[in-house]
Amino acid sequence: MSVTGPELRIRPAEPADAAAIGAIYDEGIEDGIATFATGPHPEGERREWLSARPANAPVYCAEISGRIAGWSALAPFSHRPWYAGVGEYTVYVARHARGAGVGSGLLEHLISTAPGHGYWKLVGMILPQNGAGLALAGRHGFTVVGTHRGHGRIDGAWRDVTLVERHLHLPD
Ligand SMILES: CC(C)(COP(=O)(O)OP(=O)(O)OC[C@H]1O[C@@H](n2cnc3c(N)ncnc32)[C@H](O)[C@@H]1OP(=O)(O)O)[C@@H](O)C(=O)NCCC(=O)NCCS
Repeated sequence: MSVTGPELRIRPAEPADAAAIGAIYDEGIEDGIATFATGPHPEGERREWLSARPANAPVYCAEISGRIAGWSALAPFSHRPWYAGVGEYTVYVARHARGAGVGSGLLEHLISTAPGHGYWKLVGMILPQNGAGLALAGRHGFTVVGTHRGHGRIDGAWRDVTLVERHLHLPD
């Protein structure tokens, strides 16, 4: 089943989405190959996270039939002003909704909206074991820059991270 048609609605996240965003994030963390972040991310913590984000760090929700199936986010890749146009993307899809095009819909939406937030390039940091994350990036024109060795630890074990990048279509 594909949900990349009109059934999939992508919209800016609201405070009321905090619990669903946190639950989907924690599912990804449980997989052990998505992120170095540790959970849990209860509603109050995600509400604060949402409210603290500057305008160039938007969060979006993907809804199917009114139920949140995934979320995405952009954030500056570096605090250095000369890299202000390089954004890092994040996409998380609820386990029950994976493999149906929700991740693709969210990433495509980020690619089209990121220039409006001042970004000229997007990068993603993906663990080499994360086949779905790498496939999603490759499907949307990201290329592998290289792999950082021992870039962080998950449950005490050093893990590599593959950096992917894609330039954006800037308005004339
Ligand atoms: C990575 C993730 C966002 C993909 O979302 P999704 O909705 O399942 O992906 P889609 O259904 O849109 O599929 C996108 C592409 O990836 C491929 N893909 C999806 N899951 C895959 C898997 N497990 N193995 C290989 N390819 C996979 C699809 O075939 C599709 O490619 P295609 O269009 O060429 O057929 C989802 O697995 C997830 O939330 N994982 C946990 C969080 C995470 O790792 N995020 C990535 C780092 S930010």
